[in-house]
Amino acid sequence: MKKRDHATPLSENKHLLRWVEKMAELTQPAAIHWVDGSQQEYDELCAKLVAAGTFFKLNEKLWPGCYYARSDASDVARVEDRTFICSLSKDAAGPTNNWVDPYQMRRKLKQLFSGSMRGRTMYVLPFSMGPIGSPMSQIGVQLTDSAYVVVNMRIMARIGIEVFREIDKGEKRVVPCMHSVGYPLAPGQPDVPWPCNSEKYIVHFPETREIWSYGSGYGGNALLGKKCFALRIASNIARDEGWMAEHMLILGVESPSGEKTYVAAAFPSACGKTNLAMMIPPAGFEGWKVWTVGDDIAWIKPNENGVLHAINPEAGFFGVAPGTSMKTNPNAMATLSRNTIFTNTALTADGGVWWEGMTEEPPKECLDWQGKLWTPEIAAQTGAKAAHPNARFTAPASQCPSIDPDWENPHGVPISAIIFGGRRADTVPLVFQAFNWSAGVYIGATMGSETTAAASGAVGKVRRDPMAMLPFCGYHMGDYFRHWIRMQRNLTETPRIFHVNWFRKSEDGRYLWPGFRENMRILKWIVDRAHGRALGRETPIGWTPRYEDIEWSGLDFDRQQFEEIQAVDRKAWRQEVLGHEELFIELHDHLPPEVIYERELLICRL
Ligand code: OXD
Ligand code: MN
Repeated sequence: MKKRDHATPLSENKHLLRWVEKMAELTQPAAIHWVDGSQQEYDELCAKLVAAGTFFKLNEKLWPGCYYARSDASDVARVEDRTFICSLSKDAAGPTNNWVDPYQMRRKLKQLFSGSMRGRTMYVLPFSMGPIGSPMSQIGVQLTDSAYVVVNMRIMARIGIEVFREIDKGEKRVVPCMHSVGYPLAPGQPDVPWPCNSEKYIVHFPETREIWSYGSGYGGNALLGKKCFALRIASNIARDEGWMAEHMLILGVESPSGEKTYVAAAFPSACGKTNLAMMIPPAGFEGWKVWTVGDDIAWIKPNENGVLHAINPEAGFFGVAPGTSMKTNPNAMATLSRNTIFTNTALTADGGVWWEGMTEEPPKECLDWQGKLWTPEIAAQTGAKAAHPNARFTAPASQCPSIDPDWENPHGVPISAIIFGGRRADTVPLVFQAFNWSAGVYIGATMGSETTAAASGAVGKVRRDPMAMLPFCGYHMGDYFRHWIRMQRNLTETPRIFHVNWFRKSEDGRYLWPGFRENMRILKWIVDRAHGRALGRETPIGWTPRYEDIEWSGLDFDRQQFEEIQAVDRKAWRQEVLGHEELFIELHDHLPPEVIYERELLICRL
């Protein structure tokens, strides 16, 4: 096949051409590659990554089209303490974000990026978040010196020629995204399989809608369309334009009669969003189907009739591998069975991948995520994990067996219910429904969850994570709550708001709920409530189902177990409300009155 000259620009947009030139002057790459997004280009880049030792091509018979990468041991997760929102004023970023004066930060970035791509290729990677041409989509161009990023972005977003064409139309604002792994090469200096830098900066300039990421190759830090654009920058755009950019999955529940109800759900990182989005209903739910629209991010906008519609701005899943299995998520297993990039899982002797929880029987031996020999015996002695707890798969959404026929609908899908959820061992029942929108905003605003491996830092500590957006809201959290409250004023139909907790434990530490497919029972009550069909019981915290309101066929779960998992303990909840204060005290001068009154009402009811 004829080789394209990658240095030839694929766009005629003068601003873009000038910016690329300016950034090349700054970073001094050895070559420039305009990304066309083709399969041929993808294959060539993967071959280049194999030659560089970054990728290992998996056994083609077992894992067709799949590659495996091991990151540097220090570059395995998002770095929240190195993530900055550099708005003009500190107050606009709010107390939950790291802020540095934008002028000072620009000086620092100039210094960091100066010559940072020496000896490397700078890729000009255009991407669309959302289907190309959709009125709900947004466009960005990422300049990156990482081929690993380019191939992952080809799965996670729409990239290439068609996006350049959109840019050339000049109708949409383009978000510039600079990325360097921060590992320039001197002439003759050999490269390493996972170049990165111990100094990391993930920087957002909300007013100018710019992203600068330095020092990391890890997905959440380096695939800039995802967390940086689709959440932190998009939350700013959404507030200004009257829509919402949320850390939410989107799924559709189809009943045996063919009624389809779409639900969006916010859970903190690594709390089972992907599993819920791809759920297969359990025994007792014959004829029901759950359809997947997205597993991580939702852009939600009122349509011309005042009904909220959502798109998934992504095109792939960047999922947590450990715990994913034929039992917990067969649809994810089918999705990642081909054309997938695995990062920091274990590598098996037959050229496949493995992670904790994938099979009941672990392999007799494998190489762990750092390339060291791992056996079940070694694990028993040392506690070593074969896969990093935040090991990931990057897989095309189109390969998901449950992908919704409307997942690329340019106008999105209508949202009837919003679910908030956290990982809470105590206090919080399996499910309850907010009394109304503002009570629901309060529930989202006060969400708490035990921390996971998706971010660097301690695991298992309860932290307040409003709407699961604590690491992703690109402006003042109090103003974000105000935006939520305001959104409802433009709606003709208000989605019902719910809270779920799949993770409640008994006093002796057992999970009280089987979770996974059985969550369908709760989803059905939610759908029925959203359509005004199911009954509920009033409690101080909201509406809860009675035992007889849940469909139990196919599951042995008695009334007493249900009462235990649904218990609303007033004493524990009084403690919980004090926990809400922890965050509110920091946000107080920006809190909308509704949130303050909701808290007072809750205290009165308790
Ligand atoms: C993710 C995260 O990768 O939330 O989705 O960390
Ligand atoms: Mn996420």
